[in-house]
Amino acid sequence: MSPQPQSAVGAPLSRVDGRLKVTGKATYAAEHDIEGVVHAVIVDSAIGRGRITGIDTRAALAQPGVIKVISHLNAPKLAYRGNPDTYDPPGNKQLRVFQDDKVLFRGQPVAVVVATTLEVAQHAAELVKVRYNAEQSSTDMASAPAGEPVTYARGDADNAFASAAVQVDATYQQARAHHNAMEPHATIARWDGDKLTLWDKTQWPIGMQKDVAAQFGIPIDSVRIIAPFVGGSFGNAMRAWPHIATTALAARETGRPVKLVLSRRQLYFGVGYRPSYEYRVRLGSDRRGRVSAMVQHLKAETSSYENFTEGVLHAGQMVYKAPHVRQDYRTVPLDVNTPVWMRGPGFATAAFALESAMDELAHELGIDPIELRRRNEPEEDPSSQLPFSTRRLRECYTVGAREFGWHRRNPRPRSTRDGDWLIGTGMAVGTYDVLRSGAQARVRLNADGTALIQSATSDMGPGTYTSQSQVAADALGLTMRNVTFQLGDSTMPVAPPHGGSQTMINVGSAVQDGCDKVRLQAIKLAVEDKDSPLYGADADDIVVRAGRLHRSNDPARGETYRQLLARNNRTHLEVLGSWTPGEARHSMYTYGAIFAEVAVDARLGLVRVRRMLGVFDAGRIISPKLADSQALGGMVGGIGAALLEHTATDHRDGRIVNADLANYLVPVNADIPELRGIFLDGGQDLEADPIGVKGLGEIVYIGVAPAIANAVFNATGRRVRELPITVEAMI
Ligand code: MOS
Repeated sequence: MSPQPQSAVGAPLSRVDGRLKVTGKATYAAEHDIEGVVHAVIVDSAIGRGRITGIDTRAALAQPGVIKVISHLNAPKLAYRGNPDTYDPPGNKQLRVFQDDKVLFRGQPVAVVVATTLEVAQHAAELVKVRYNAEQSSTDMASAPAGEPVTYARGDADNAFASAAVQVDATYQQARAHHNAMEPHATIARWDGDKLTLWDKTQWPIGMQKDVAAQFGIPIDSVRIIAPFVGGSFGNAMRAWPHIATTALAARETGRPVKLVLSRRQLYFGVGYRPSYEYRVRLGSDRRGRVSAMVQHLKAETSSYENFTEGVLHAGQMVYKAPHVRQDYRTVPLDVNTPVWMRGPGFATAAFALESAMDELAHELGIDPIELRRRNEPEEDPSSQLPFSTRRLRECYTVGAREFGWHRRNPRPRSTRDGDWLIGTGMAVGTYDVLRSGAQARVRLNADGTALIQSATSDMGPGTYTSQSQVAADALGLTMRNVTFQLGDSTMPVAPPHGGSQTMINVGSAVQDGCDKVRLQAIKLAVEDKDSPLYGADADDIVVRAGRLHRSNDPARGETYRQLLARNNRTHLEVLGSWTPGEARHSMYTYGAIFAEVAVDARLGLVRVRRMLGVFDAGRIISPKLADSQALGGMVGGIGAALLEHTATDHRDGRIVNADLANYLVPVNADIPELRGIFLDGGQDLEADPIGVKGLGEIVYIGVAPAIANAVFNATGRRVRELPITVEAMI
């Protein structure tokens, strides 16, 4: 087939839903106007561990407007049978709401109050008196035993390290962090007979549908999830957290549609978070900087009832070519709720440890940090021996060093001053997985020359509506204004989680497939239609531009989709597009090099980022303006991780002491300097998927924190091995 002209893909277009969002017309989960809706408020456990010995609901029930108080004392047993396709497979011990008297962590839902207004529900929730038999909770990873490790080994890392000429041995810590999206987690549940509809904040309508069906023990198609807009999420809305079942249960028990919005405080224990990590890295190198050995020990917190692990180990196996690598990864079960993926999951944690350690090694050897990394660049993936599909890290270094002005750097720490400020620069590498799982998309070309494309994906902010429309517009040969992409409904064709940077890879490839097939159907119709000006033409030679079909070298003769479909009495053409990835014969990752300049107040220890540049190999870029927006957002998030974000727990009672946006610090405008993201162009990766993309939501974040930490070392001579880098650590 003749290649379609590219006009929407690659163009710096604004969001198609931008106007809806800035005028408040985009409907988020809690904003759906459901007739007769009543309000639910969760009563959280006031102890960190123990048993509930009694619940007195009399005062709450006496409030006018209170409909019901549900707890383990009166809740029905739920099925909780799990689903093999979700993050709650059968046998998983997710938190089961109101099923028994056990308290597993502080903030666990122990009751829910349903009332006619939110205010009454909130007030009544405070009147519910819960009596406990409290036990001492264990929430400190440093003082609790770890479980059995997951391990990886190649070569003989311990001996290679012991005999290495130069050794680095350092332990890096990363504080627990919460996603803190703008939109709180919210759900509205309505039962119509035995059918349940949930208007929910979710990154994965299909997964949520399966999770909830399994929790209630009802058929999957008895549950419908509706989620057209998501106000940020960063990984926290891919499984059905306890408040979902709570809401659906409350709706079933009261016979009313029920709305539940977690308060800002409840987000700190009602949903997941990035766990605390401790990552010890030992690097053994020769004097020329060739790393022979990497020994890595990783420890992370998890809940007592679920073992959460994520892909922290990959990067340490394949970013550098070290022949001898040994890793172990242990989790420490604590009396906390279950952690989850957050921004650059796994790989961001690995990057902080590995890239800090590489910087320490570079300093030890007196080798430029970029040069050190170049000397350890593998020719193939050392963990799998597979060739890289595309790996343009060397180019990231070259472009980044040039654009950042790396040659002006003084490698000697504490050598540059600007008044009271110590100035330093640093860099770090990021890498992230290419997640290929497949997807489907329904494509309908209407007789009026417009198209509707649907897939049950989500848009938590990257701009899925826009970027998928761009793919569809070019593949169908339509202008953007004639293409509508819809998402966020579990009745639409199946899509994977909208997380882990996998939406364009999978959904984009399915949209491309469906649109190609519809376009080819139309072309076939034309060349076989005696009344068409294209009758008898070679179908492979036809292109479609702005809704008009013509020979690639003869734009004058042709006809529009509208003319073609009208004459053939067709109301529409429709195809279910799909993409199923084949077996991976290549090692597929995204890459980035981050460069940061910081200023550290020599007396106060305050760290300010002065400028930052990220250069990324993310494959083909569909939507440059959205990609740029992602790059800025990723770097802002990275500044948060480096300098601010830290969930603090009082280990005496398991209470999170900064469970609000006043005390959990996130970057604001005044924290953000000039940021620049560059996506290497010409980088399509057709081994990854048919549209050549590799995903970009994570890679723009990974490596930011270590680049800043390395810059802080260059500025001050102080190596901070703990995130976030606080003023306290600097003075
Ligand atoms: Mo994310 S951690 O890609 O939602």
